[in-house]
Amino acid sequence: MPSPQCHAADAPRRLVSKPLAAIALLLAITMVVLSAIGARADQPNITMILATGGTIAGTQTAAGEPGYVAGKDSVASLIEAVPELKKIADVEGRQVSDIGSQNMDAKIWLELLRATSEELARPDVDAVVIAHGTDTMEETAYFLNLTLKSDKPVVLVGAMRPANALSADGPMNLYNATVVAALAEARGRGVLVVMNDEIHYAAEVTKTNTTNPDTMKSPNRGRAGVCDIGACVFFSPTTKRHTTNSAFSIGDEVSTLPYVAIVYGHAGMTAAPIKGALDDGAKGIVVAGVGDGNMSDVALDALTTAAKTGVVVVRSTRVGSGVVRRDIEVDDDTRGFVAAEELNPQRARILLQLALMKTNDPKTIQEMFHVY
Ligand code: SIN
Repeated sequence: MPSPQCHAADAPRRLVSKPLAAIALLLAITMVVLSAIGARADQPNITMILATGGTIAGTQTAAGEPGYVAGKDSVASLIEAVPELKKIADVEGRQVSDIGSQNMDAKIWLELLRATSEELARPDVDAVVIAHGTDTMEETAYFLNLTLKSDKPVVLVGAMRPANALSADGPMNLYNATVVAALAEARGRGVLVVMNDEIHYAAEVTKTNTTNPDTMKSPNRGRAGVCDIGACVFFSPTTKRHTTNSAFSIGDEVSTLPYVAIVYGHAGMTAAPIKGALDDGAKGIVVAGVGDGNMSDVALDALTTAAKTGVVVVRSTRVGSGVVRRDIEVDDDTRGFVAAEELNPQRARILLQLALMKTNDPKTIQEMFHVY
């Protein structure tokens, strides 16, 4: 028979030990269930995979053929093709569009922006991965980089070979993208692109090869990091403003973006494409100029006249790398032009579209080209 003293001491221990045992049992069951489904207890909550189409979801009638149709496979089949994803995070899928990204436009950008924002606002979603065609991936990445309002990781991923091609690159790209999205270090870096074992910033990346899987490059500042079968590391951070630091936001009322045309510089350039853009109602014109953002005298004169009427003219370059600065061979101050600095024509167009929702003052817009 225990002494009253002993009995008094044992009573609280028994009271505590029952709930503790229950918690321990619950934890053990959770670990067994998690390991059965291949998930880790320390992994993030949900990584949402949004699919828009592209070659990553493309199919060909027989592997080894050159032809294929982009955007045929659903988001569910993209996820099913990489069972290893569930070892990284709990993945869910949502189909936003099923296009080849040559058909990406402002309407789908706005839908994608709203879908991504919705998912990022969910407390149980830690990151978003967006499967996208590579043709306009850099543009969508940059548009989202300037308009999303979240520090959570957002990673665009694609493929150069269709899903059922010989040596398809999509599954490894999707795996690496999901790993990057799950990294704590990926937070606050703005929108990222992961392709072919490389991580790129949205303000830098561009497609450089028509068919090779090693196509996405950051020619001015270099890649943001690298991956090796899911072992991903970042190099230096981006200095460009983005997401929560961006002054651009798109309200629910916005249904389109201002029309901005790109005209391409070449030997013998005439004013005809500039006239065409103005006739179509362009509020801004980006010149993919030769060399350091240059163009013929007739083109310069036509653009100077356009700038005087309030159309914003931005000089970028067709060269593929380098910086277009003000007042080098073209007197931007006198002509009222904006220099694109590091932005290639397709990215300059997006920044100008967003800028024109606020102002058409070239000086104010030039400041934006410094910081974004
Ligand atoms: C596309 O951009 O949709 C086609 C090309 C690709 O995804 O690589």
